[in-house]
Amino acid sequence: MSVPLELEAIATEVADCTQCKLHQSRKMAVPGEGPADAELMFIGEGPGFHENEQGRPFVGAAGKFLEELLESIGLTREQVFITNIVKCRPPGNRDPQPAEIEACSEYLERQTGSLNPKAIVTLGRFSMARFFPNARISAIHGKPQRIGNRVVVPMYHPAAALHRPSLRATIQADFARLPELIGREARPIRAEDPPTVEQLSLF
Ligand code: URA
Ligand code: SF4
Repeated sequence: MSVPLELEAIATEVADCTQCKLHQSRKMAVPGEGPADAELMFIGEGPGFHENEQGRPFVGAAGKFLEELLESIGLTREQVFITNIVKCRPPGNRDPQPAEIEACSEYLERQTGSLNPKAIVTLGRFSMARFFPNARISAIHGKPQRIGNRVVVPMYHPAAALHRPSLRATIQADFARLPELIGREARPIRAEDPPTVEQLSLF
């Protein structure tokens, strides 16, 4: 278990960062959260209303759906690292602007380097564009792409998929393939769990 010193240091810097104009209208910056040894890193677009209030990523409706998707593959949000392309809320949830994304990219790069995840999942087209500037999400969603020594899996944004049945089914299917990618058995946590090794040794 590694100590999340670098991740904590980044979060502290983000909390009072003034490197782009989004700092003027934010209530709380949202650095992102998760354990320093997380194998999966999720990158969303930017904080929305609730995230800006609480300083935590994906705590609104999209976050609830993200938690359901994680649960479907046997993971909880506490086991993965969740962050965004920009750490401060764009006013009225407008799109983040190129200058803001650029100003904030240093934090994302340091987080990625420190975490060194097995796979990065981009949620939505803004985070996809950091890795694949000319790709179309409809063409590459759910397909693992190798970038240097990293695996990046582009996915639709849960907020977009939430209320559109076809996209919802697509993102669910894309999630179902994630465990295999990181060499983990897919198992919904609410399902009947088989006995653990310790339990077996009691008999
Ligand atoms: N949508 C995002 O992209 N990020 C969040 O943190 C919440 C909603
Ligand atoms: Fe700093 Fe990023 Fe917030 Fe802009 S969005 S003020 S660069 S933390």
